[in-house]
Amino acid sequence: MTRTMERQVPEATGVKAMRQPTLATLGLGNVIDIFRNGALPADASALVDEVFGPPEARGSMVISGANGIVGAGKTMQFASRLAEYGVPVVALDFPSAPDGIGRQYPGLVRAFGKEGADRIMGSIVRLTYDGRSLPAELDGLRPRFLLEAIPEILEVKRAHYEVFRAAFPDIEIRSVTSGFPSSELGVGIAHPAFPHEINKVWEIVEPEPSAITRLMWALGMIPLPVGDRWSFVLDVLFCGVTLAGLRYHRATNMPFWKVDKLVRKLLGPNPFRAHDAIGAKGADFLTWSCLHHLAGTYGEVFRPTPELVERKDTGQDWYPPNHFRPLVDWKLAGEEEETFRAWILGPLFQMTSLMLHEERGHLSHLNAIGELCAQFRRGILSVMRDAGSEAVVSTVEAYHRLHPAAKEKASWFPGAVADMDRPEWAQLWVNAEHDGEVGVVTLGRESYSWDVDHELNRALDWLVDEGIERVIVTGDFHISTQMIGADTGDFFPALEDVDSGLAITHGWSRTARRLHDDFRVSVAMIPGKRCLGGMLELLVHCHWVVAVEDARLGWPEVTLPVVPGMEGCHWPLRRAPRDAWPRILQMLLTGRPVKATDAVGWLIDWAGPVEQAAARAWSLATGAHHGLDARPMEGGALEDVPDDVAGLPEADSPGMDAARGAILECARLAGGAPLDEALEIQARLAADFLAGPVCRAGSVGAEWAKTTQV
Ligand SMILES: NC(=O)c1ccc[n+]([C@@H]2O[C@H](COP(=O)([O-])OP(=O)(O)OC[C@H]3O[C@@H](n4cnc5c(N)ncnc54)[C@H](O)[C@@H]3O)[C@@H](O)[C@H]2O)c1
Repeated sequence: MTRTMERQVPEATGVKAMRQPTLATLGLGNVIDIFRNGALPADASALVDEVFGPPEARGSMVISGANGIVGAGKTMQFASRLAEYGVPVVALDFPSAPDGIGRQYPGLVRAFGKEGADRIMGSIVRLTYDGRSLPAELDGLRPRFLLEAIPEILEVKRAHYEVFRAAFPDIEIRSVTSGFPSSELGVGIAHPAFPHEINKVWEIVEPEPSAITRLMWALGMIPLPVGDRWSFVLDVLFCGVTLAGLRYHRATNMPFWKVDKLVRKLLGPNPFRAHDAIGAKGADFLTWSCLHHLAGTYGEVFRPTPELVERKDTGQDWYPPNHFRPLVDWKLAGEEEETFRAWILGPLFQMTSLMLHEERGHLSHLNAIGELCAQFRRGILSVMRDAGSEAVVSTVEAYHRLHPAAKEKASWFPGAVADMDRPEWAQLWVNAEHDGEVGVVTLGRESYSWDVDHELNRALDWLVDEGIERVIVTGDFHISTQMIGADTGDFFPALEDVDSGLAITHGWSRTARRLHDDFRVSVAMIPGKRCLGGMLELLVHCHWVVAVEDARLGWPEVTLPVVPGMEGCHWPLRRAPRDAWPRILQMLLTGRPVKATDAVGWLIDWAGPVEQAAARAWSLATGAHHGLDARPMEGGALEDVPDDVAGLPEADSPGMDAARGAILECARLAGGAPLDEALEIQARLAADFLAGPVCRAGSVGAEWAKTTQV
């Protein structure tokens, strides 16, 4: 990474960034401006007016194919967000379509309660028609925006747009297509990810970020602009990993369920089970359709295998009934492991090189989509970055030796994976911006991992090198909507090897301390609905902590069970008045979160609405008058850390009980030492616990066994 010592800031924006913030891909500027202005860059109610017209002449949103898998889910997602603005959602389908919307009702009740669910359902207007002439009632509902979710047949979709445009010439249309480019469809694209009522990620194709896209952001969804190509990033990755598994099956005759286990161990997804879970018939058709079109453009690396063609026609599940599987199991031996990696990683690396070459999107988007939508434990770019350019190239070459036809057409671009030191590659999740005085570090990943740790260190190095002494640490206001703690997948090696655990508990704690030691002022701003576990441990290292008022803050480690290993057992005690110690210990020993507003004065310094919180964070960072008293910071040995806490509820399990003991011991021993010794003490205790039998018998251990012991 190139480092510069000068503190030059471009005059136009007054902001310098390590790399482009992903927020800027939506036309929403830099994250630092949210703090400088004390205002979010887009406002939902103004955008509702822009997209649907003013309240007195409010138009509607139409979702066609609303009883389908995508249509029903998206009807829920939009109706639940638009109801409060008085925007009706028109659910359009054929009279013969099974009631997909009705099936969503129980889920809606779970999320919003019966009253809320009824209100949302009440804002949905269900209409049917014959596919050719639109229902007369639609006129009165003033349709302004059509989200098309009808079957993946190009001519059918095009004819559908004609019907709408003839009746409503100004209507905005977006297709949810799985793979057709916008240039073929003639409309913009908002491509959603499964499960549709919950997943907030959309791949967006449009010439410029539109008011619709900004509205989606303002309503709490995650729109990610991508280029206009055959198929989308998610589908290249998901269909690609499925195809890789199918090819390995063809080469070795290994059953699909076993291929699935090995793919999950290597990368995270189990593509065949996912197809069965989504519904094999529909999912197989969509996977086949994507690959079929991609093969037409890019050649054999994407060609569906005969097995997929057959399943697409029959809809048969990939998995046999459960009772057939455990009877036969085996491990890969010797060279088989290498061959497997070449068959799976080779095509994925090749396909990713193609997407990079085509500049399909911000690298953070390409990376995040795999994690957020395709079950990848780490985004594909993170995996490639870890391997390094040379290993990526040699893996693809090994794959080509196994499958020479995959080299045909222009579909492998080694040049696109050459320069991984660029900030765009180096900072997939963590970015930094500054205005010459104050830096803002943004965490784009919900959970803390080695990737985040390395990137955070580089971001802090960059700010220090730029001469920045004041820093705000926060989310990215885009890809990450909450902070859920450490990525327990990164704990797996620590269950077998105490040194791997120590690397985490020592290394991540050192990073956290930098927030305290390397800057004159550091301010954490918690912008989302929760901040838990390792993320909270990290952020409480800042001199000041502010949070949005409805954020939940907690340390659920004890329930896993693990011992917090980023100084959570002693650091918060050092920063709290002594009479608040029982509350901190209650948090650590029960795992129960507290509301941000209840944590002011002993865990955080201020809580309020998001824009005011941003303004407050800015005034703390700049040193402007803010009227807050600093909490204490005890760097010496804490005296009399209690070895018991009154009024604890019964532990849920013997494991939790054991973890309580270990946490109290850690608080006593690390808290009872001065700061410069405490880090080491807590690192050792937390790592020992990770490598011990109690952790292995808990949920991290269960996940570790399921994922790695195959
Ligand atoms: N299933 C997924 O996970 C997924 C993911 C991303 C995108 N997509 C895309 O979403 C679209 C829909 O897929 P799906 O899986 O929801 O299909 P689906 O078969 O479940 O639903 C399609 C719905 O469209 C209705 N329909 C058909 N023609 C219509 C017309 N002219 N007007 C109104 N309604 C009509 C059908 O009755 C049905 O209810 C496809 O383009 C697909 O590629 C699907």
